[in-house]
Amino acid sequence: MAGNPEKKEHLYKILVIGELGTGKTSIIKRYVHQFFSQHYRATIGVDFALKVLNWDADTIVRLQLWDIAGQERFGNMTRVYYKEAVGCFIVFDVTRASTFDAVVKWKTDLDSKVQLADGSPVPCVLLANKCDQAKEGLVNNSNQMDDFCKEKGFIGWFETSAKENINIDDSARFLVQRILENDSNIKRDEEDQDRITLGSKQSEIKSPKEKGGCC
Ligand code: GTP
Ligand code: MG
Repeated sequence: MAGNPEKKEHLYKILVIGELGTGKTSIIKRYVHQFFSQHYRATIGVDFALKVLNWDADTIVRLQLWDIAGQERFGNMTRVYYKEAVGCFIVFDVTRASTFDAVVKWKTDLDSKVQLADGSPVPCVLLANKCDQAKEGLVNNSNQMDDFCKEKGFIGWFETSAKENINIDDSARFLVQRILENDSNIKRDEEDQDRITLGSKQSEIKSPKEKGGCC
């Protein structure tokens, strides 16, 4: 059967950030190319990858993945790299608790430098990577991890392994789902705005309270 000629296409910029050697590049390579290597070569600056998802019968999603070097936390370039991102993964290494300690710094850096068009924070998923190995620290307690995520404004967290291909697709699907929801909310808000601008009748102007919706 022929495909739907009216397919909607979305292009989303997704950031992948976190400390040096936590597995950002490996996660992207696994997700996009189904490839894993033990060999470590630090990313310099930023790398890019594109993943195309046939989301449903009517929707194609193109993810532009920005693989940002761990060493950029000490640089001034992140503001430039984060621009216009609509989603983010923050990655830590379950075998090194120090990489988890830095997660909050990355999240603060992100939230202070980029927001969605409606001013809300960019949806961010926390990835506890290398779960094929022995875990160290808070990640051993999933209730505490849930609380941590709630408190720090992550939309969720996943244990992942780029090596064993665990939860990589699931975590991406989870993030894209949220991005699509945000997208339709923002578009609806923009349409409301247009109505305010174009409409001549005062009665068409809605106060934010009347719009309803959730937090
Ligand atoms: P920077 O580019 O320096 O920021 O590092 P990165 O976060 O991109 O890390 P990278 O993907 O290069 O991985 C670092 C090392 O960890 C490599 O030797 C990988 O093979 C290894 N690694 C990555 N993911 C996993 C995993 O899920 N399990 C195991 N066992 N090793 C992994
Ligand atoms: Mg890298």
